[in-house]
Amino acid sequence: MRGQTGSRSNGIMRKRPIGIFDSGLGGLTVLKEIRKILPGEDIIYFGDTARVPYGAKSRDTVIKFSVQNADFLVGLGVKMIVAACNTSSSFSLPTLRRRYNIPVVGVIGPGAKGAAGATRKLKVGVIGTKATISSDIYKKEIKKINPKIDVIGASCPLFVPLVEEGWLNTDVTEVIARRYLAPLKQKGIDSIVLGCTHYPLLKPVISRIFGKNVSVIDSASQTAKAVKKILDNNGISNNSGQARCRFYVSDEPELFRKIGSRFLGSRINSVKRVEVG
Ligand code: DGL
Repeated sequence: MRGQTGSRSNGIMRKRPIGIFDSGLGGLTVLKEIRKILPGEDIIYFGDTARVPYGAKSRDTVIKFSVQNADFLVGLGVKMIVAACNTSSSFSLPTLRRRYNIPVVGVIGPGAKGAAGATRKLKVGVIGTKATISSDIYKKEIKKINPKIDVIGASCPLFVPLVEEGWLNTDVTEVIARRYLAPLKQKGIDSIVLGCTHYPLLKPVISRIFGKNVSVIDSASQTAKAVKKILDNNGISNNSGQARCRFYVSDEPELFRKIGSRFLGSRINSVKRVEVG
């Protein structure tokens, strides 16, 4: 299947929505950042809530699900695909880029670029799901920018459920975070990449643990900047749209609506359930 850019004019493309997908609701942190810097764009968000989490699944399964999610968005006529999920971005970007002729943006490259630009001691920490960390993708991307940078990864599997429970600033969260982050602290990193959709909500705790000398790089805001640049470079940005967001999920919409509003920091009014794959 191919996307629909083909020979259509930029004028038509410009008005089309941006398509964002994630394994569930975490990708709303990316949507929030995109909306901040691209307030004129319409957006369609798909959360694969029936099959979340991706973070403990195999590469093949993550690629299969990612293609199904992106096919759904392409079917709705989006002008760009954003794989907001770090786990999905770790494995599926080459496949998605071969499959469509619209731009496909992931969260790894932008996060890696942010970290490579921020580190002074050339020591970067990366945290994410088990799948993302074991893929070593952040290490590869950071080393592509500067091979001298030492990259130390740590998976933090309990962070996703803690965030979904809304336990953002509790003593339990702090104890768990200190335990996960201790090896990175010992290695003397000076920048840390939040390599998972959910982690921006834990930024206050993580910043407190590392102190002010460690830069905390949020992949979500770096990705939003990359999205803007690609739209501009392709002449397909829309400054005058209605900024409408449509939300689709593969399981029960109500829970997504409730917890999603917390991720987004604003109310989600309507969510539709659809079957993909
Ligand atoms: N969206 C996933 C990520 O950024 C976290 C949740 C999951 O494991 O599916 O890696």
